[in-house]
Amino acid sequence: MASALKFGYYSAQKELLKKELSVSVWPELPTDKELAISAYRKQFTTSRKTFAKTDLGTGNNRIASVSKVAKSSSISRINGQFLYALVRAFQPKSILELGTCLGVSTQYLFHGNKLAKITSVEGCPGTFGVRQGLSSQDSEQQIQFLNQSFIDFFNSVETQFDFVFLDGHHDGKATLQYFELLKPLLLNHTIIVFDDIHWSADMFNAWKQLKQAQGFRSFELFQFGILVKM
Ligand SMILES: C[S@@+](CC[C@H](N)C(=O)[O-])C[C@H]1O[C@@H](n2cnc3c(N)ncnc32)[C@H](O)[C@@H]1O
Repeated sequence: MASALKFGYYSAQKELLKKELSVSVWPELPTDKELAISAYRKQFTTSRKTFAKTDLGTGNNRIASVSKVAKSSSISRINGQFLYALVRAFQPKSILELGTCLGVSTQYLFHGNKLAKITSVEGCPGTFGVRQGLSSQDSEQQIQFLNQSFIDFFNSVETQFDFVFLDGHHDGKATLQYFELLKPLLLNHTIIVFDDIHWSADMFNAWKQLKQAQGFRSFELFQFGILVKM
């Protein structure tokens, strides 16, 4: 019963979001794109290499397995398909991703609109190097990968964005701070996707505050909290 109610709620939110974006049907990820993204992901999930992973909170390094990070931190296929559908439907021109990791979610964003300029930010030098070393995709001409902390990025950015995917530093206070820093960079009708809103009580409390933001409509879809600037 509880799961039926939950499912009904998500479906209703999805319908509302479709209405808000004037989308009749959510675009499906074509098989060739799905295969390309799977091949991209597989380079990392089958790697036997290790690297120095920096915890951006403490600054501590630990040796991590590329394969384990790829499996535990990269977006799932189902959520990736939804991210793709959002970009495909909305066709943003300027996309910001905070939290590249190995770039799997970046691939879904890229395939959603190959003409969009994508800026993707990753603070851990080791993770940044692993992605850079293994991926030689032509897609990257459209994508600017930056090895910076989110705060350093906000201190130097001059671009504006009409689609933002925030998938890193899952801390409530930090998420609220990033939202404030994002506000002056947003174009009208920008979509902001907050990942992992159920990560912790603290993250969910932050999402409850974000939902109240003036001038935005909010939607909740499984682990995503979505704000659309009006
Ligand atoms: C969950 S992973 C991103 C996964 C990726 N979006 C995907 O689905 O393929 C989060 C990433 O954010 C990075 N990160 C966390 N806090 C950060 C910060 N304050 N500045 C820059 N990068 C940060 C981490 O190093 C990690 O690689």
